[in-house]
Amino acid sequence: MSEPKKLFIKTYGCQMNVYDSERMAEALGGQGYVETKSPDDADMILLNTCHIREKAAEKVYSELGRFKGLKADKPDLKIGVAGCVAQAEGEEIMRRQPLVDLVVGPQSYHRLPEMEAKTRTGEKALDTDFPEEDKFEKLKNRPKAKRGPTAFLTVQEGCDKFCAFCVVPYTRGAEVSRPAGRIIREAQDLVERGVREITLLGQNVNAYHGAGPNGDMTLAGLIWELNKVDGLERIRFTTSHPNDMDDALIEAHGTCEKLMPYLHLPVQSGSDKILKRMNRSHTADSYLRLIERIREARPDILMSGDFIVGFPEETEEDFQATLDLVEEVKYGYAYSFKYSTRPGTPAAERPQVDADVADERLQRLQAMITRHQREIQDSMVGQTVNVLFEKPGRQAGQMVGKSEYLHAVHVSDPGLASGDLRKVRVVTSGANSLGGELV
Ligand code: 5AD
Ligand code: SF4
Repeated sequence: MSEPKKLFIKTYGCQMNVYDSERMAEALGGQGYVETKSPDDADMILLNTCHIREKAAEKVYSELGRFKGLKADKPDLKIGVAGCVAQAEGEEIMRRQPLVDLVVGPQSYHRLPEMEAKTRTGEKALDTDFPEEDKFEKLKNRPKAKRGPTAFLTVQEGCDKFCAFCVVPYTRGAEVSRPAGRIIREAQDLVERGVREITLLGQNVNAYHGAGPNGDMTLAGLIWELNKVDGLERIRFTTSHPNDMDDALIEAHGTCEKLMPYLHLPVQSGSDKILKRMNRSHTADSYLRLIERIREARPDILMSGDFIVGFPEETEEDFQATLDLVEEVKYGYAYSFKYSTRPGTPAAERPQVDADVADERLQRLQAMITRHQREIQDSMVGQTVNVLFEKPGRQAGQMVGKSEYLHAVHVSDPGLASGDLRKVRVVTSGANSLGGELV
């Protein structure tokens, strides 16, 4: 048998890209590729790119430029660009950087094997269509390799919300949900391979409405089906939109035992004026009332969010409203970003906030978020949590895993192994993790 070819994938951006990279590696596994951790010995390099913020495309071009030497030494080396920059730039990538052999958008990964074969004949391969078929179904020919205890599973892609700052509706396309039966089968398969916790992924995951046995199923319906999968212990999902939190999903947080008490629910701003200009179609107040209802269903739920500061026309007063909202919600985790112009989105045309002002606001917001995060993490000391152990910690004999609230927890115990789900009493709260002992 010939030497396997080597594939190097570099993944940028969100968890959906992490999932997609795994699927691409599996698809190319069928073409005789094995993964390598270094671009230097690769026969194919794939950049799985992200376009959500900052100068994403420019970063990709400069990264590609660095492969010039490699390609000169090894003319057979194939270089591909996948992900949202591929979708947004398309053919332009090959024009600007002739090193590139292959450009594939997020909806076309199932065509990678044919595209790779085409590059082997010396041709370029480009596919940034939005086909109707389920790309993941076509990507299934994978070896039944053992997996770690946690996995992502994409259930929905794309977005119809068109927030005024966001490229996702353009790069990932319209909302599409995968049929429930396929998701359940994929979950069962993951469990057979050692997975105990699944995070359901979608750009707008709670808008999920995939075909089920009796018509369309909602995300809550899907979660209840997954709750029945033997051997699966934990279910999470991300990312949600406030307007798609239906009653059944809120209720599931109180009643579905495998659904973890953690919810990422971005609000972006606390100012109704800015929310309106962002085309978010909810208000600060409707968001706060929603959180109240979620906390009624599950009082200990840990909230997480996303924020944009310095959105066009954001005044100090608007920003103050964001701080007020954060103070009220108290997030266990929150991600905040300075607004960054995405060409082609409506907000790109509007009067921009001064960069220094935005920087200063970002610092104030992050200081508040960090304070809350600390307080919440520290308040875990003395409590008993459930930890799904994932991997060895830095110290000998130590294992690290995640609590139901997604805090990292370290425990030193010689009997612990990856995949163990154990009760732990928290005794210390460190910089980014908790320490505890088995109960
Ligand atoms: N500028 C800054 N942040 C953005 N996000 C999305 N688009 C932009 C942009 N143009 C943030 C939002 C979103 C998260 C994934 O990225 O907060 O929820
Ligand atoms: Fe982008 Fe999320 Fe808004 Fe969709 S809901 S446009 S993915 S920020």
